[in-house]
Amino acid sequence: MTEPTALPHKLAKALRRRRRELSRAIGPDGVLVVPAAREVTRNRDVHYPFRQSSDFAWLTGFPEPDAVAVLAPKHQDGELVLFCRPRDPEREVWDGHRFGTEGAVAHFGADAAHPLSALDETLPALLADRKRVHYPLGVDADFDLQIMGWLRAVRAQARKGVSAPTTLVSSDELLHERRLVKDKGELATMRRAAAISAAAHRRLMQTCRAGLNEQQLEATFLHACAEGGARFQAYPPIVGGGANACVLHYVDNAAVLRDGDLVLVDAGCELDGYASDITRTFPVNGRFSAPQRTLYELVLAAQRAAIAAVKPGKRWDAPHKAALKVLTRGLVDLGFIEGSRDDLPQLIKDEKYKPFYMHRTGHWLGMDVHDVGRYKQHGKWRALEPGMVLTVEPGLYIAPDAEVPAEFRGIGIRIEDDVLVTADGHEVLSRDVPKDVEAIERLMASGASSQET
Ligand code: GLY
Ligand code: MN
Ligand code: MN
Repeated sequence: MTEPTALPHKLAKALRRRRRELSRAIGPDGVLVVPAAREVTRNRDVHYPFRQSSDFAWLTGFPEPDAVAVLAPKHQDGELVLFCRPRDPEREVWDGHRFGTEGAVAHFGADAAHPLSALDETLPALLADRKRVHYPLGVDADFDLQIMGWLRAVRAQARKGVSAPTTLVSSDELLHERRLVKDKGELATMRRAAAISAAAHRRLMQTCRAGLNEQQLEATFLHACAEGGARFQAYPPIVGGGANACVLHYVDNAAVLRDGDLVLVDAGCELDGYASDITRTFPVNGRFSAPQRTLYELVLAAQRAAIAAVKPGKRWDAPHKAALKVLTRGLVDLGFIEGSRDDLPQLIKDEKYKPFYMHRTGHWLGMDVHDVGRYKQHGKWRALEPGMVLTVEPGLYIAPDAEVPAEFRGIGIRIEDDVLVTADGHEVLSRDVPKDVEAIERLMASGASSQET
């Protein structure tokens, strides 16, 4: 059986630092309670592959299901208390190693650990005489009930002079605002995740040809990521040939790729709990047609303008605004939108681009693909800060029945990169996949020739 591995030294240090800062923010009046993810049944006695809760992983690094972490600043029994599955040699023969309570203390920096069976007896004592309980309020109905039960248990001690918390606070503010700004170790992981996904996207460009099924491209992507060291995806890959690219969350991936169509691939691996999220759109046969190229160049110009707007101090919506300006102007020039360039601000205000571009230009990226953290503060789009990572992903989706010249109908294009806000601008983490027309065609041609030999 595989022996337990301690957390890498740098990660253990980062986790300690996070908890130290959190403890300071929570103060001795408060307590934070965070549940691990549970195993989820796929069918009958088969589970989905286990994925730890991002909040729980960010706080503890503990990889097992069902656990509960309590961070009680300055508590006499220790600040970090973990409740987890106990060692069980019989179960471990079937399901693999468990760290148990001893491992939680030895390897994960818990000051104390208890088996899950002790939760109801032991956890209420950690809430006693605290005013506030921070926890993921309203996220999981069963956990909400558990919290209420533990509060009742504390209240039952009132005659012994114990006072119960009076305030329940969502832990989002504490955890998510911190998760939004990534530390050095997190950024190193995100760079690697993006590089693995980028290599997988390049392989698709090199191996794509008419007659393949969308799911064969998907298979190649999964294979390349796993080979690169990332066994899991951050979300189900979207591989849409032709008009399937106009279905924003198309995941059937079951159609045959046709000569003369584009294919849109939105796929990114997850590495050590961190997501990548990359979209490229390229011609199935390796050469863009004139109408495809026209629309592609327009989306690319919008994406470049949006990425240029990523720098510290810029507001969250600056990239979106930059993309809308380029796209709307292009749609006017093409005659898809009535009006003239002089009317641009009004056309944008009236959302005339909406029939062709119906989503926003990006989202936070981190442990979750649509990562946590507020987008607005005090009613205004927040300012970007170094260490934040976002996607920049404008697109154009021309429905098969759109009232535009026939040669443009059924074309869907999105170009998506992962962008880190740096001290003086930005770094495109996913820069290793080509997105220029010429660079894509060159890479596809090199793949086609190597397949022939
Ligand atoms: N892949 C999901 C997204 O791009 O938001
Ligand atoms: Mn995205
Ligand atoms: Mn995506």
